[in-house]
Amino acid sequence: MNRQEIDALVKKMNVDTATGPVDERVQQVVVRLLGDLFQAIEDLDISQTELWKGLEYLTDAGQANELGLLAAGLGLEHYLDLRADEADAKAGITGGTPRTIEGPLYVAGAPESVSFARMDDGSESDKVDTLIIEGTVTDTQGNLVEGAKVEIWHANSLGNYSFFDKAQSDFNLRRSIITAADGQYTALTTMPVGYGCPPEGTTQFVLDKLGRHGNRPSHVHYFISAPGYRKLTTQFNIEGDKYLWDDFAFATRDGLVATAVDVTDETEIAKRGLNKAFKHIQFNVELVKEQAAAPNTEIDRRRASA
Ligand SMILES: [Fe+2]
Repeated sequence: MNRQEIDALVKKMNVDTATGPVDERVQQVVVRLLGDLFQAIEDLDISQTELWKGLEYLTDAGQANELGLLAAGLGLEHYLDLRADEADAKAGITGGTPRTIEGPLYVAGAPESVSFARMDDGSESDKVDTLIIEGTVTDTQGNLVEGAKVEIWHANSLGNYSFFDKAQSDFNLRRSIITAADGQYTALTTMPVGYGCPPEGTTQFVLDKLGRHGNRPSHVHYFISAPGYRKLTTQFNIEGDKYLWDDFAFATRDGLVATAVDVTDETEIAKRGLNKAFKHIQFNVELVKEQAAAPNTEIDRRRASA
């Protein structure tokens, strides 16, 4: 069949058969995707067995709750970021900290505090370096932003996230820090370790077929929101990790690479109330003011909450 015949067939089966109210946007998207799928079946001569294997794969990936991971791993989530950047540029929006993918592991409802939070529950203090993350939240002119909500989440020393990893305490390594008038936030936590897709999981299954690895560099996720500013979804990836520029989820971007500096000075250690050397990362955030006709940066997707 040629495309004209395919489109006519899709219309005949899914448009002309409507007898009730139609959601026109859904109809438009379904018709387009079906047409593209039928076309791919024609072009690639996809067999019935291959088609059913594909549907079974999606069933398995959904049941394993790995579709979010798959979207990151195949670059779909990064592609949407690139599109959002293009839309911003078209709307004349420039500056601000770059966005990058959210990933599938955010959990709403983390404990909130002002200016400072300790993020870890102490269970890994002996196994892993202490990390202090500090930064300011400003606008693109450098003015400090008071009342910004800095939501931070990251993995533990095994590359696992609390909530999804039931061995961890509730909200371990997840906090929301509200900035005071100085625009400053400080998080006392532990060094995250990069992670790979579950080796027996559905995402790794398809990555294997593509000859790809499923590893991410060590990184820390952020949502930053403040009244009057565009919400920013971002993360920093940590210099020195072998996967820094070989991230299976394509989240590392210029402007989002952080250096963890070793702090061994006794006075500095004491000033922080610590008893051993620690690592320090400075990550300042620049928010862009909300403006009329700006593309929306709030993404509505199903997220875990605890
Ligand atoms: Fe992550």
